[in-house]
Amino acid sequence: MNIIWNKTSGHFHLYNDRISYIIGVAINGELTNLYYGKKIHEKDDFSYITFRMGMPNIVVDADTESYSMELNCQEYPSFGTTDFGTPAYEIETENGSRVSSFVYKSHTISKGKKGIKGLPATYADAGEAMTLEILLEDEAASMTLTLSYTIFDKYPVIARHAEFAYTGSSKVRITRALSCCLDLPDQDYEMMQFDGAWARERIPMVRKLGNGMTSISSMRGVSSANHNPFIIIKRPNTDDFNGQAYGFSLVYSGNFLAGAEGSTHGRLRILMGINPERFTWMLKEGETFETPEVVMAMTDRGLNDLSQTYHRLFNNNLVRGKWKNEPRPILNNNWEATFMDFTEEKILKIARKAGDAGVELFVLDDGWFGERNDDFAGLGDWVENPKKLPQGIAGLARKINAMGLKFGFWIEPEMVNPDSNLYRRHPDWVLSVPGRKSSLGRHQLVLDFSREEVVDHIYGMLYKILKDAPVSYIKWDMNRSLTEVFSAGADSCEQGMIYHKYVLGVYSLYSRLIEAFPDILFESCSSGGNRFDAGMLYYAPQAWCSDNTDAIDRLRIQYGTSYGYPIVSIGSHVSAIPNQQTGRSVSIGTRANVAYFGTFGYELDLNEISDEEFEEVKGQIEFMKKYRELIQYGDFYRLRSPFEADQTAWMVVSQDKRKAIVGFYCLRSNVNTLPGFLRLAGLDKDILYRMEGRDYYGDELMNMGITLSEFYKKGFTISEDYASFVTVIEAV
Ligand code: GLA
Repeated sequence: MNIIWNKTSGHFHLYNDRISYIIGVAINGELTNLYYGKKIHEKDDFSYITFRMGMPNIVVDADTESYSMELNCQEYPSFGTTDFGTPAYEIETENGSRVSSFVYKSHTISKGKKGIKGLPATYADAGEAMTLEILLEDEAASMTLTLSYTIFDKYPVIARHAEFAYTGSSKVRITRALSCCLDLPDQDYEMMQFDGAWARERIPMVRKLGNGMTSISSMRGVSSANHNPFIIIKRPNTDDFNGQAYGFSLVYSGNFLAGAEGSTHGRLRILMGINPERFTWMLKEGETFETPEVVMAMTDRGLNDLSQTYHRLFNNNLVRGKWKNEPRPILNNNWEATFMDFTEEKILKIARKAGDAGVELFVLDDGWFGERNDDFAGLGDWVENPKKLPQGIAGLARKINAMGLKFGFWIEPEMVNPDSNLYRRHPDWVLSVPGRKSSLGRHQLVLDFSREEVVDHIYGMLYKILKDAPVSYIKWDMNRSLTEVFSAGADSCEQGMIYHKYVLGVYSLYSRLIEAFPDILFESCSSGGNRFDAGMLYYAPQAWCSDNTDAIDRLRIQYGTSYGYPIVSIGSHVSAIPNQQTGRSVSIGTRANVAYFGTFGYELDLNEISDEEFEEVKGQIEFMKKYRELIQYGDFYRLRSPFEADQTAWMVVSQDKRKAIVGFYCLRSNVNTLPGFLRLAGLDKDILYRMEGRDYYGDELMNMGITLSEFYKKGFTISEDYASFVTVIEAV
């Protein structure tokens, strides 16, 4: 890894073993992108890349007649001079002008990586990464702009963000401040996005790119289940195993925009950052604004490789604290078992049985506080309901600890029911527009987390419970989109800042709780997977993937999630049948075979299953304890897509390639067809492996494949709906 500044030509070359990223200073002083792709040699001069043929176009000025921004790749362009594409940022100065031009002033190259104030970001020490910060200035606006680029030694990754500073004596308004712009010189690409809605999150969808804008966004205040803030820009022939692609992951949990715009001259512009809709940020003298980070990754080896890059980077350089690179506890959550209808006795009965099965952590879900007996009341009142928990959270936690289980519980700190003491006391603490009705979502309103006193108050209530109770885990939920976004605590000219300030408030509460209780494992949740994003992973190293716990639907959801997020971050549980969301009944074996590829746990009352199934559950827990390190932290390969075939498969391989686990699932039976073969990936071609008592070479398993009919002996058949197997492969 290195960052070279070439004094003569003025270009910057960031490279490691796999990628090169080259930035130039254009003739107008602004930054131009010269290359991002597979590693190339450093040379004295790349300026020949700049396109300067006299075309009938708007040019920078008379002296630089032939240079137009529009015909070249830009680094962080504005609108208003010679680029007519969608800009990366926009600033309105006091006189109402929106024209900007930030020109190169200086730069620094340093080892490691700095944090971003108040925001989550990847981190790295001096040996892991190098950072280039380029300072640009717009004198007429009294502003500076610092563009920051970190290249990681071990990963084909560049992490970027921007910082604006105002040095004038009045004020300016930033109306757009994206995190990155990447201009590519051709448009032969497709955009892969991860879409859905509640209970069907992160389903991959591919769109051909061409002239004009192709984009996704969120205006819900959360990153959303509708569109995930992660996109892949890939060559049309790129698949999981071969080909070139770029990934863009936004380390942020609020409104976002991600898109690719093809110009009619052939350039492709990729943009990502905070959604500029309803966003304005005021800067007064001496103030700065930092955008969230975008993690850009590149592959020339297919999408499995791209995903593995994100998995490793997020596990090693985004997730922090005690749970970083730790196998996750196997848990039992009572939500689908009881909903809010429970007593302490009922909970203890479920926990006792879970303990007998080998479960390590019991999680008490919604319904333990205030007057929370259904979803009409109680949110905001973070005090135990003595009818349900006579000795409070602390008492219950101790009883559960005594059974040999750790204890955790559910919160939804950003919300309030109108029927709650908190709302009765502080009706102005919610996001709402004076004189207008507020829309309800699940009978609740959103607390105004842009206000420090609100965050403070919630922190105080939670602190009070946590300080005396042995709590090992918290599930932090968030169950509605933001509407009527207006803060009673802000001036009229500051209302455009509220969406972002809200997210900053959420991050600050997370930070305070983590600082006070560093050992607690946080799992984020937002009606399932509404906030499954890289920003959340910085605070909560795992996320409830979806409220849809049906194993067959989960195959699709978890498959889609794996493109951008580590397996260890995917909250996945075995739940009861018929499934509460889909009505489908799937064997307990297949339910576990799917849930293994995630955090693993149970979302049911183990007292309710047969003795035979209970024995099976014990075996499942034993299996997961033995192999979770490999499953959660091994290299994950998608093998067969559930969106393209009636069967799906995936596998994990240990770093030393001596161990692997394959999961194979039949979504729909195929009568009277040959079972065929499943070709594996990621093994060492020369190692002899043992699988189900027979020996195979790695190349045999990868090129010829597993003979699926071998598994018929174990009772598996592809002519049975929802059949599955999970098998372990070990070097002999
Ligand atoms: C949301 C979550 C569920 C559960 C309920 C509790 O829907 O996604 O897992 O915690 O809230 O109300």
